[in-house]
Amino acid sequence: MSVKVSVLADDSVLFPSRLLAQHGVSYFIEVRRKEGSVNILLDTGIYGKVVVDNAKELGIDLSKVDIIFLTHCHYDHTEGLIDVLKAMKKEVPIVAHPDLFRPCYVKRPSIKYIGVPSNVNKEEIEKNGGKLVLVNHPFEIAKGIWSTGEVPRITDFEDVGVEAFTIKNGKWVKDEMLDDMSLIIEIEDGVLVVAGCSHAGIINILEHAKRITKRDRILGIIGGLHLIKASEERLSKTTEKLKEMKVERIYAGHCTGFKAQYKLYKEFRENFKPLATGMEIEF
Ligand SMILES: [Fe+2]
Ligand SMILES: [Fe+2]
Repeated sequence: MSVKVSVLADDSVLFPSRLLAQHGVSYFIEVRRKEGSVNILLDTGIYGKVVVDNAKELGIDLSKVDIIFLTHCHYDHTEGLIDVLKAMKKEVPIVAHPDLFRPCYVKRPSIKYIGVPSNVNKEEIEKNGGKLVLVNHPFEIAKGIWSTGEVPRITDFEDVGVEAFTIKNGKWVKDEMLDDMSLIIEIEDGVLVVAGCSHAGIINILEHAKRITKRDRILGIIGGLHLIKASEERLSKTTEKLKEMKVERIYAGHCTGFKAQYKLYKEFRENFKPLATGMEIEF
């Protein structure tokens, strides 16, 4: 069994390439197994047309996507969905958390909506072939491939990394981003974890992945780690924990932030790579 992850959207782009970067995430994940391959598209970026063009440039046929996995509600992960569905021209299950469509705001400097854009609504999704599978618990979406579901927050040094708000029963309350889910892929005796923004905290996510799969070996992490505004203390504790957990390879981009990337590079050296649009990663 092997896995190939192609980065169709990230905030930077590979040197050299003809691809376009954007603030957002979209990965094409090919899980090749004896019993047949499963192709997953994790997130769809902001600009779906760019995701589609990048896929073409990389020789990826999006009509071969079996499952779309949406890691959380933020527009930089979901806005491209309709354009991607239009290009795929097929029925496809879309796995996400049941709270995906809740209101989600930041105050920057005044209130600003950052959730699933209004044109990406249930009606439009279904019209274009998307079948919503909204599940909030750990869920095996294909043999050996799991959605984490909601991730228990157990560490005392991690938080969602963004001051987000939602509206509950007419009250303006802190958004704990419980919809933040990641993908876990079992490869032989280890696991590969693919995250969108890791709002649940990357250490919480890894602990959860270990519990779900009953495996300790973490072959790799791919994704945004949302450490862009993290304190020095959080950066140090996160790095320490990743070392302690013996994470073998780390590919971090999008909302990880330069300081976190630099710190991770210092610790993991050739086993750390900053993510970029156009990267193809094999496990
Ligand atoms: Fe993001
Ligand atoms: Fe996010």
